[in-house]
Amino acid sequence: MSERYKMEVLVIGTGYVGLVAAAGFAEAGHRVLGIDTDEAKIAKIRRGVSPIYEPGLDELLARHQASGALKFSMDLKDGIATADAAFICVGTPQGEDGSADLQYVLAVGSAIGSAMAARPADARPLVVVDKSTVPVGTAARVHAAIAARTDRAFEVVSNPEFLREGCAIDDFVRPDRVVVGCRTDHAAEVMKGLYGKFLEASGGQWLRMDPPSAELTKYAANAMLALRISFINEIAGLCEKVGANVDFVRQGIGSDHRIGKHFLNPGPGFGGSCFPKDLQALLKVGRENAHPLRALEATVEANRHQKQVLAMKVRAHYGCASGSPAPLAGRKFALWGLAFKAHTDDIREAMAMELIDSLTSLGAKVVVHDFEAMPNVKAKLGDRVDYAQDPLEACAGADALLIATEWPQYASADLGKVAGLLKAKVMFDGRNLFQPEAMAADGWTYHSIGRVSSYPV
Ligand SMILES: NC(=O)c1ccc[n+]([C@@H]2O[C@H](COP(=O)([O-])OP(=O)(O)OC[C@H]3O[C@@H](n4cnc5c(N)ncnc54)[C@H](O)[C@@H]3O)[C@@H](O)[C@H]2O)c1
Repeated sequence: MSERYKMEVLVIGTGYVGLVAAAGFAEAGHRVLGIDTDEAKIAKIRRGVSPIYEPGLDELLARHQASGALKFSMDLKDGIATADAAFICVGTPQGEDGSADLQYVLAVGSAIGSAMAARPADARPLVVVDKSTVPVGTAARVHAAIAARTDRAFEVVSNPEFLREGCAIDDFVRPDRVVVGCRTDHAAEVMKGLYGKFLEASGGQWLRMDPPSAELTKYAANAMLALRISFINEIAGLCEKVGANVDFVRQGIGSDHRIGKHFLNPGPGFGGSCFPKDLQALLKVGRENAHPLRALEATVEANRHQKQVLAMKVRAHYGCASGSPAPLAGRKFALWGLAFKAHTDDIREAMAMELIDSLTSLGAKVVVHDFEAMPNVKAKLGDRVDYAQDPLEACAGADALLIATEWPQYASADLGKVAGLLKAKVMFDGRNLFQPEAMAADGWTYHSIGRVSSYPV
């Protein structure tokens, strides 16, 4: 290894997780080779263009590609001979039966096994790291896939990733904790070498455990977060029925240190590339082990309902009779926000996509806007909706404004201008960006989530 670099790392799969990990490890002073089978993606990254939107990523990619610390290739043989660690960061989509589809992870395992011949026979064991979210037992399966093709030394480690899209770089380089499931001190030493700088900077915890516990930790973390969201969404729904305000309720419970205030924001239902599929995968593991996870089943069911809440509010407002084929025919809605949350272009399982389906199936026309996700929506929906260049353009001549993503620019929009463009001052705010009392005082018919009390804030 060159003196310039602390360690050599392969990062296989350059999506939301892999690209951030590759850039992050280069930032920490390691030499990184990012690998992907998608030729167009690799060509784009090499030109200095990030294939995904993630704040701060373009700059890191440009800086470390220019310095030579970060390179990209389609062939992992290019870096395996001298690598200390190889991170598997490919997708684990939901299979037909709900379980995590491991075909991409195992294919990478096989590819690593075949490429291992390039390593000297006396090389230190390669630390192969499962960073993809995978069910318990996957480290053992990846081990078998590699061992079937090589007699070179290696160990498979589980190192789940907890980054959040939208602040992924910060989460990666300043982690709360690094969870490492490994069986040998050599693997622990390599992992500490890779993450040591980040943990020093963040004061985060180093948590060494066995691989099955590390694998389960990731699913349990996502399940707990999803459960909190569904819980507060259900409380918000109840607030509407009983004349309470969920903002007061969440303040009241969040100030209890046993509960904490995070992840108690009511909204239009969770989406994204992780929670929905990870919950299904965990439920499947529970069923396979004759240990049904009933609280999680309820979480999933509550979220399925919550994703319909905005559409139900629209139907109720316009008095849509059930059974009528197109009760919203002739109406046009402006929809602000398409990504599953702010600061990302990711529309996987996004609530806005279900909302578009509901409104268009009731005969309405929808004009959409998002700060980053429009190209992804265009690729998926084509001309089923109209696309506005800016938030105000979406409102021109619309019957009402709907908000599905909490981009801060929407919260600071000039509502006077918005009102001037809409046919009526009607808003369905799935993210509670505005205060009900102020909106009512300004003449709006304002629907939000869980806030019907009239107590002055
Ligand atoms: N996105 C998140 O916020 C997040 C957070 C934590 C964990 N995770 C987990 O991390 C994993 C990756 O998620 P993602 O969102 O980055 O996925 P992604 O779909 O954005 O990226 C996966 C990449 O892997 C590449 N790939 C597939 N097969 C390959 C192969 N054989 N060799 C090389 N590259 C290959 C694909 O071309 C793609 O670029 C998943 O298991 C996910 O659950 C994701």
